[in-house]
Amino acid sequence: MAGLVDLVQTLTTPHALDRYLELVRPTLTVRDMRAEIITVRRDTPGSVTLTLRPTRQWRGHLAGQYVQIGVLIDGVKHTRCYSPIDVEAGSQRRLQLTVKAHPEGLVSQYLHRHAAPGMVVDLAPAAGVFTLPRVRPDKIVLISGGSGITPVLSMLRTLDAEGYRGPVAFLHYAQSPEAVPHRAELDAIAARRTNFRIALCYPELDLSEVLHGAPWSCAANPVSGFFGHEQLERVAPWFATAETYVCGPAPLMHSVREVFRGEQLEHRLHSEEFTLAAAPVDPQQVTGTTTFSASGTEARNTGETLLDQAESAGLTPEYGCRMGICFSCTSIKRSGCTRNLRTGELDSDPDQPIQLCINAAVGDVDIDI
Ligand SMILES: Cc1cc2nc3c(=O)[nH]c(=O)nc-3n(C[C@H](O)[C@H](O)[C@H](O)COP(=O)(O)OP(=O)(O)OC[C@H]3O[C@@H](n4cnc5c(N)ncnc54)[C@H](O)[C@@H]3O)c2cc1C
Ligand code: FES
Repeated sequence: MAGLVDLVQTLTTPHALDRYLELVRPTLTVRDMRAEIITVRRDTPGSVTLTLRPTRQWRGHLAGQYVQIGVLIDGVKHTRCYSPIDVEAGSQRRLQLTVKAHPEGLVSQYLHRHAAPGMVVDLAPAAGVFTLPRVRPDKIVLISGGSGITPVLSMLRTLDAEGYRGPVAFLHYAQSPEAVPHRAELDAIAARRTNFRIALCYPELDLSEVLHGAPWSCAANPVSGFFGHEQLERVAPWFATAETYVCGPAPLMHSVREVFRGEQLEHRLHSEEFTLAAAPVDPQQVTGTTTFSASGTEARNTGETLLDQAESAGLTPEYGCRMGICFSCTSIKRSGCTRNLRTGELDSDPDQPIQLCINAAVGDVDIDI
């Protein structure tokens, strides 16, 4: 079969076979993986849940991983990462994504407004190391905030489906009860599984709810407010001997890391971020000019990522994840020194491909965009 496909591929050159097949049906592909949206739910204000049917190349995901989808908007393909919320499964051809509409966001707003059954998107295989180990830990703490609920919900659903018998504590932080996606399902899991403690916290309302009031929760023992040691201790007094998985906005991630650092339990903490958490730069060290030579544009180095600098200078380089995952922002650095904001590594070699979203200039730099 592979030989036949290669032969047809050669005969159809210069266009890939999939370019012809997509004229017949967008999901009729030989190599490219795609997915058709089959249902769209807008139950939670400001977010949309899509059920997709991937093409036969789909190999499934592990709870906590993410996929990249490519969405065509005004004739331009834009790639973004989303974490499936399904139970982890083999090659079952079904995938659910919950997308929060960012106020200024291009793809999330588009999906929130326009996603409809029949729409076809590009799909990349599931990736990422934010996963539960194959041999499940004896105790598990899950913590999420806002749209960071998605990978953690996949873990919770998976543990529920497997009939996991150890204690599980799930703390989720949201602006209000209405803003919690999949609330009814969380409620149902809490009702069904006495070993799962699910606490929903609304720090801005100074309010919290404990689904199905397990014995450890009562009016005298509230869990309201922002995340902190005391709160974790109340919901999961055994957390020091558990493995903890966290995904959420930077302030929540920071608080969780602080607690685990204080307890010297960093080795038990596993985290996923949706945005780049770069260390602040010392303004004294920010010098030089960033030149975007292909467009004849120059800008004073601000110490921000080269992607942010290019956008501030009015350029529109392609990007996807903005955190070094998808490589869609890769461009050629003609000259100068750059710092990788994730690893701190410096690179002074000329004519190197670099990811604009995770690199900043150190002195004069010339980028070929
Ligand atoms: C591993 C991973 C998993 C993820 N999983 C989920 C998930 O399950 N659900 C979910 O809702 N989201 C998830 N995300 C986030 C998602 O990938 C997108 O980042 C999010 O949907 C916003 O995309 P957007 O196109 O709407 O916003 P964009 O248009 O890309 O804008 C996002 C932000 O980028 C910045 N930006 C954009 N353009 C500019 C500019 N011109 N100048 C300066 N700054 C700019 C702004 O800060 C803006 O708020 C995940 C991200 C990662 C990395
Ligand atoms: S935008 Fe994804 S690697 Fe830079």
